[in-house]
Amino acid sequence: MNNALVLLREDLASVEEKFKNSMASEVGLINKVGQHLLQSGGKRIRPLLLMLCARLTGYRGRQHIAQASAIEFLHTATLLHDDVVDGAELRRGSPSANSVWGNQAAVLTGDFLFAKAFVMMVEGGNIRALQILSQASTLMAEGEMLQLIETGNLEVGEQSYLNIIEKKTAALFAATCRCGGILGGVEPAAEDALASFGLNIGLAFQLVDDALDYVAEEKVFGKIPGHDLAEGKMTLPLIHALANCSPKEKGRITEIVTGETMEEADLSYAMDLIRRTGGLEYSWQRAEELVGQAKSRLNIFSESPEKSALFELADYVVTRER
Ligand code: IPE
Ligand code: IPE
Ligand code: MG
Ligand code: MG
Repeated sequence: MNNALVLLREDLASVEEKFKNSMASEVGLINKVGQHLLQSGGKRIRPLLLMLCARLTGYRGRQHIAQASAIEFLHTATLLHDDVVDGAELRRGSPSANSVWGNQAAVLTGDFLFAKAFVMMVEGGNIRALQILSQASTLMAEGEMLQLIETGNLEVGEQSYLNIIEKKTAALFAATCRCGGILGGVEPAAEDALASFGLNIGLAFQLVDDALDYVAEEKVFGKIPGHDLAEGKMTLPLIHALANCSPKEKGRITEIVTGETMEEADLSYAMDLIRRTGGLEYSWQRAEELVGQAKSRLNIFSESPEKSALFELADYVVTRER
């Protein structure tokens, strides 16, 4: 994502400044918990997408700073809540907020960030953007809930999985890119193309996250690999393995997924099965296809540094290691 970072260096600095100001609260614990996460080195992929899409479509004002900040706040709020729900101990290479301050403080700080995101969106004064982002927030909550409902359900198929990740992750990517087009004031067809670009790279982003959860290097990934399996989260590598293994193997996976604890040997067993059935290659291949589809939606825009940077970001989604 180097091109994006170079193109948007100043804008990104303004966004970081906006984070700091908007995080401030007279309640000290909110500052502490919020800053811990905001300053722990997120990739800022959503702010980058928003600002690139805005510039691609000719926007030259300043509203994109508040908009990008609002989107990162929304994302950060969902991470705080997600880590409580998932019982995650590591986030961005540091102990998760819930493991340092407990679930209650993490949930409430998530609420604060979520509310602040809406304050910033209203500040921006763009009612359509507000509408799009509030719809995406609703979808994210539904996606996380659907995932919770399906935890430990070995009958979850690829379609239900895709439906869940579309809601919990891709919807915000789609809304982010659409909002860039809204700022640029483009025609509905161009807005839809941007949203579809965002949706497809958002799906690819989560597919890769779920594959990395099996094979990533903890130090680079910043999260503990194997956690999805331990939690009984049904993601594509496992779904693919289950669709291509023997009843006996499926029985063993059932024990692992539904068991109270997970040993090293359990993770190795699942990993081995996933390797043998090609579950990881399958996930990455699906992600690459989606990135290809995403890029083709940008055909209608003429060549520009912003378009190249968006292509580069799309490629990064499948090559990333963290
Ligand atoms: C993590 O998102 C949650 C998923 C949708 C997989 P990111 O990978 O964008 O998290 P940060 O902000 O860079 O830490
Ligand atoms: C994405 O799901 C979380 C949200 C969209 C909020 P994950 O649970 O896979 O994300 P990580 O792995 O915790 O970052
Ligand atoms: Mg999680
Ligand atoms: Mg994950």
